[in-house]
Amino acid sequence: MKSNVTIIVAMAKNGVIGKDNQMPWHIPEELESFKQITSSHNIIVGKRTYESIGKLLPNRKNYILTSDRNLVLEGAFVMHSFGEIMFELIAKPQEKFFVIGGKTVFELFLTLAQTLIISEISLEVEGDVFFPEINPKNWKLVKEEVIENQQNIPITQKYYERVYF
Ligand SMILES: NC(=O)c1ccc[n+]([C@@H]2O[C@H](COP(=O)([O-])OP(=O)(O)OC[C@H]3O[C@@H](n4cnc5c(N)ncnc54)[C@H](OP(=O)(O)O)[C@@H]3O)[C@@H](O)[C@H]2O)c1
Repeated sequence: MKSNVTIIVAMAKNGVIGKDNQMPWHIPEELESFKQITSSHNIIVGKRTYESIGKLLPNRKNYILTSDRNLVLEGAFVMHSFGEIMFELIAKPQEKFFVIGGKTVFELFLTLAQTLIISEISLEVEGDVFFPEINPKNWKLVKEEVIENQQNIPITQKYYERVYF
């Protein structure tokens, strides 16, 4: 059965996605693409990534994942387990859920995701967080688009769909 879950990530050539709980680059055009794709949908966010962004993302339903049962965030859905989010996914089959990171949350949803959207950023950067290994046999490239940007960093946004055997 196809799921309503998409993982969306920006990744350097060496697999780096973060450094010191921040994104290791600032590319407004890539962020704009992320905004266009995720706006008006649901996003699933790990607590560390939420803290790193420093706010809820507007025009999206924010599901923040944490083990902290005392955390209350006005305007967000605070979730405490994978199972709790599963209830939401199943209850809202017509809605799209985008897993926007970080690493631990990508790992959690990788076996469930139907689509991966990976912005491949042609930079070798230092980092302390890497996107999890994916098995290429499980994914089919269905679309790719170049993201032009003022810094002239080559960026290709690749869409993969899960392969069913
Ligand atoms: N390049 C990109 O596209 C991209 C996107 C997003 C983030 N990032 C980067 O990724 C890094 C952060 O990733 P991260 O792996 O350290 O942190 P994270 O995934 O953002 O957040 C981890 C936190 O989420 C909560 N959590 C995770 N799994 C849970 C579960 N099963 N049940 C309950 N709570 C759970 C826990 O919060 P509690 O500790 O509160 O329990 C955990 O400490 C940063 O460097 C960030 O900049 C990069």
